[in-house]
Amino acid sequence: MTSTTSTANKMTVPGLARMKAEQQPITMLTAYDASFARLVDASGVDCVLVGDSLGNVIQGLDNTLGVSVDHMVYHVAAVRRGLNRALLVADLPFLAYHDRASALASSGRLVQAGAEMVKLEGGAALAPQVTALVEQGIPVCAHLGLTPQHVHQLGGYRVQGREASVAERLKADAHALEDAGAGLLVLECVPAELAREVAAALRIPVIGIGAGAQVDGQVLVVYDVLGISPPPRPRFVKDFMADHGDIGTALAAYVEAVRTGAFPGAEHTYR
Ligand code: KIV
Repeated sequence: MTSTTSTANKMTVPGLARMKAEQQPITMLTAYDASFARLVDASGVDCVLVGDSLGNVIQGLDNTLGVSVDHMVYHVAAVRRGLNRALLVADLPFLAYHDRASALASSGRLVQAGAEMVKLEGGAALAPQVTALVEQGIPVCAHLGLTPQHVHQLGGYRVQGREASVAERLKADAHALEDAGAGLLVLECVPAELAREVAAALRIPVIGIGAGAQVDGQVLVVYDVLGISPPPRPRFVKDFMADHGDIGTALAAYVEAVRTGAFPGAEHTYR
């Protein structure tokens, strides 16, 4: 029998949609283990992302391409044990969703480890995978702009969408993914005006990272927020530890800064 009791204020996918409708900024941070998950959850953040950025920050790799579904499952299960309120979003790693069957198999493992939504990188070509997942009850977060799994194709970690043709393609991809059933969109490293247009045009919430302030929420890698990541740091990163004496206060300051609109500032934004 399904339990009808739930944690008060537990964040859900419909809850995120309501936040967009009510113009409440959505906060998201990454976590990769139970201890950080507990700290991040206690900060009041709405979503925790087990990102394949764990390839960089946990495994010390140059990119995310070496991360496997097994790695993701291990970290999702650990984060699950540390969470209480936040929605757990998990990245599908490189080549784990190249067709509907692989997307369903990989996502099934992530959900059984505790994920409540899966994230995938890429545009309209992924619409069949998105629809297949949503039809099986697995919510999907899309990811456009700078998609680190395409680093070789993009020629590095660069701002995306400054050229009109790329901006138009990104907008078309965003609509196609929403129409396919995506419930959330992450936009990484795109000019603020383009991100604003996409967030205004879509019904689903748009979470930015290096996408300016006029989107529906923000995400950062937790180690960037705590000043742990080695330089050079991207423009969109802010070290909240610099002005706060402990991890809990720094994480709460990030959440508060996103909610009040104090972060990101112009200095964190691309034109
Ligand atoms: O892998 C990750 O942590 C991400 C965020 C940076 C959005 O995709």
